[in-house]
Amino acid sequence: MCGIVGIVGDAPVASRLVDALKRLEYRGYDSAGVATLEGGDISRRRAEGKLGNLAQKLAFEPLGGQVGIGHTRWATHGAPTETNAHPHATDRVAVVHNGIIENFRDLLADLAKDGYLPKTQTDTESVALWVSRELANGADPELAVARTLKQLKGAFALAFLFKGQEAMLIAARHGAPLAIGYGDTEMYLGSDAMALAPFTSRLTYLEDGDWAVITPAGVTIRDGKDAIVQREQQISQTSALLVDKGNHRHFMAKEIYEQPETISHTLSHYVDMGAEKVALRETLPFDFADLTRLTISACGTAYFAGAVAKYWFERHARLPVDIDVASEFRYREPPLEKGGLSLFISQSGETADTLAALRYCAGQGQHVASLVNTQESTIARESDVVFPILCGPEIGVASTKALTAQLTALAGLSIAAGRARGVLSAERENELVRALTALPAAVAKALAAESQIIDIAKRLSKAKDVLYLGRGPMFPIAMEGALKLKEISYIHAEGYAAGELKHGPIALVDEDMPVIVVAPSDELVDKTLSNMQEVAARGGKIILITDAEGAETAGHGISDVIIVPRVDSFVAPILACIPVQLLAYHTAVFMGTDVDQPRNLAKSVTVE
Ligand code: AGP
Repeated sequence: MCGIVGIVGDAPVASRLVDALKRLEYRGYDSAGVATLEGGDISRRRAEGKLGNLAQKLAFEPLGGQVGIGHTRWATHGAPTETNAHPHATDRVAVVHNGIIENFRDLLADLAKDGYLPKTQTDTESVALWVSRELANGADPELAVARTLKQLKGAFALAFLFKGQEAMLIAARHGAPLAIGYGDTEMYLGSDAMALAPFTSRLTYLEDGDWAVITPAGVTIRDGKDAIVQREQQISQTSALLVDKGNHRHFMAKEIYEQPETISHTLSHYVDMGAEKVALRETLPFDFADLTRLTISACGTAYFAGAVAKYWFERHARLPVDIDVASEFRYREPPLEKGGLSLFISQSGETADTLAALRYCAGQGQHVASLVNTQESTIARESDVVFPILCGPEIGVASTKALTAQLTALAGLSIAAGRARGVLSAERENELVRALTALPAAVAKALAAESQIIDIAKRLSKAKDVLYLGRGPMFPIAMEGALKLKEISYIHAEGYAAGELKHGPIALVDEDMPVIVVAPSDELVDKTLSNMQEVAARGGKIILITDAEGAETAGHGISDVIIVPRVDSFVAPILACIPVQLLAYHTAVFMGTDVDQPRNLAKSVTVE
């Protein structure tokens, strides 16, 4: 994820901005920059690569100024060059951005009509240009930002610095976190408490849709309707921890809520959103066109990611996929053809069974690829090619943001395979990439169902057994939902293919067994909804996860409907992870279990 910092006060800020950015290095980046006001004019220093390069540039060309913004960038739109590094600026405004501006092409097209043309390949510059045009048309900075925010689509956090405004910054949050820090004579801005720890432990986390005007004396926060709101000020415990819980009770909750941002970040590594195409950065030691089969092996949640990817590779790349849990695969010793491709999915990159399966495949002359979050892990080191998922440290034992990051990366790989195998048209590739680009904002909206889910979780916490049903790529999500529930609430749960219900499990159904049906409206939804009616007819308590369209056709006898945004069926399995994660989390909270460190579990199972 990108990192944002800002300071407005009564002392030079440039070097302190760099110090704050250093505390965001854990998020991953490939360029950095700062902007301050010198004599009322915007001055910038930006550099490719690590913060040391930026610090060196500042040593040779110091920046004065007592107000400024800084940024560490993970390239989304456009290569990781100095030109594309943030802050992006016109002569009137500088801006730093974390996330995705989905509709940036439309914004640039509108701006071009008035002669506002971009100089970079980034989506961020469209924001600087739009604010500039508002300013040129007579708006003051606050009005210019308020108007601009209403034009933007996507999940993002932004910070603005204005020509001539020595005592003001403006910040906005829409899907990606942003915190305000309180000093005695200064105020601060950061992507998380980590960045602000050197300055203050008094924080306010902006809520989605909020924007804030920050001066050395304090902050005025407005909501998405521009009404002034009060947000809680809290004391952060962050200085000790490299990674903190933010304003969440558990790491798992924080990691669930990070997903609009982490999915954006993963996506930026796999797709060129401007061109609406997949753009892999890794050099492949194989050609997807030469493959006759893809073998996937993993454990737990990572296995479910692979099980969803099977549908994608087979449908969009016409590539047959064999998948098995690594603990079975490694002893099955399946026959594998030399030169074939085996893919290993592992958040930790240290899971013993997955590593053993990898070593078996390497011994069979397979090309070995891995999809990991920890790029210096053993599995990564023993792979011929590593596909990173880039979701930042996942502390909660129950995997959440790593799953959606794995799925996002796998979705990109399946599109790349389809194009390489000549079975995916350019138009269809554009459609699938657009569906992925729209995902972070849909995830942010899906998180808004939390209060309803808390109410359902309270009832679910009384259950002894729970059944999850799904069809097609929702079947692995049903299994994942069951895994999440059992591993943190200790309630027994099973995930089942909806079509299998009548082949046995329906005997379990009675009024005491909640049945959770994961069925966003797609080409299979009618079949799943009829399975659901079989449950209702036997008095089963149904909790349906679907979109508004699916809710309309669901029929009677449903105790709860959790509505998620309507998205392309390609990305629906990724979005469906959100409600099943929240349901498990809040049920566990009601059960009073140790959500982040559930009994008997380890974050990485490095033994058989
Ligand atoms: C998921 O919530 C569990 N913590 C567990 O199933 C985990 O996914 C599995 O152990 C695989 O871990 P890995 O991704 O680090 O290999």
